[in-house]
Amino acid sequence: MTTQPPGVQVWLNGQVVSAEQARLPHLTHSFHYGLAAFEGIRAYQTRPGRGAIFRLKDHIRRLMESCRVTTLDRGLKWTTDDLTQGCIAALQANSLDSGYLRPVVYIADGAMGIGAANNPIHAMIAAWKWGAYLGEEGLKNGIRCRISSFQRPGHATVMSKAKINGQYVNSILAKREAAASGYDEAILLNEQGYITEASGENVFMVQAGKLVTPPLGMNILGGITRLTVLQIARDMGIETVERAFARDELYCADEVFLTGTAAEVTPVREVDGRMIGIGSRGAITELMQQEYFETVQGRRDDKYGHWLTYYDVT
Ligand SMILES: Cc1ncc(COP(=O)(O)O)c(C=O)c1O
Repeated sequence: MTTQPPGVQVWLNGQVVSAEQARLPHLTHSFHYGLAAFEGIRAYQTRPGRGAIFRLKDHIRRLMESCRVTTLDRGLKWTTDDLTQGCIAALQANSLDSGYLRPVVYIADGAMGIGAANNPIHAMIAAWKWGAYLGEEGLKNGIRCRISSFQRPGHATVMSKAKINGQYVNSILAKREAAASGYDEAILLNEQGYITEASGENVFMVQAGKLVTPPLGMNILGGITRLTVLQIARDMGIETVERAFARDELYCADEVFLTGTAAEVTPVREVDGRMIGIGSRGAITELMQQEYFETVQGRRDDKYGHWLTYYDVT
């Protein structure tokens, strides 16, 4: 999605308004310095006119935590319930029974000094239709990744557990570098050379039938899809291990895949020119992918129905 078609509605500070009315003043503080918190949430159609937002409560909780980490919570007037209802309202206002939600909490215009502790804090929620982030072909046959020359900054530099807008400069540079060198996605190392995450996804590998992923103690985002896949795998009797590993283990893994709200469960068929496993989607990846899609589309409600927030559109 690059432009907003006419008629798009946006939730802004408690009200649904047109995208035109929601335009930002050019002295918006967050636009200049990058301090804002955001989320990416998906809703899936369960039948025509009825959608389900996946793990909405967990996304709003992480948004609130990002606000706490960045002190945006000090001026935030909107409660968890307001933002939850705002997400539903944004989808309904645009008649979307599936789509992507983008809540952003940001520092509005006022003082232009860096600290600007008294500027108003605003909240905006946009919604739009978004297909497979890394492509349908990627979901089926796997994507090609490179290890980025850009590192994930350490814990003393950035707050990796928070989704802070300005931190995505690092991801954009890595993604652009990967694309410019003919790859689909970038995987970033930390200062010690361990795998952290991709530009907007967590990383998993399959080793001897076990799922292995970096632990939360490392500088990675606590991905909600990561948690979902770990839970689904355990419930299926697949062993999961959270530990640090470097690029050599990734090159030799039986399977590699990425997880994220946008990317869902995307297989990786190549890293730095090395074929991974059979060079296409691996069997365990496929199993995780199938179970993930069944879950988000409301076909596993016996086990995972508590992760879905249903809503209707007319
Ligand atoms: C840097 C980064 N890592 C991981 C993820 C995956 O997180 P989630 O599964 O909650 O979407 C995202 C996407 O939000 C991300 O931006």
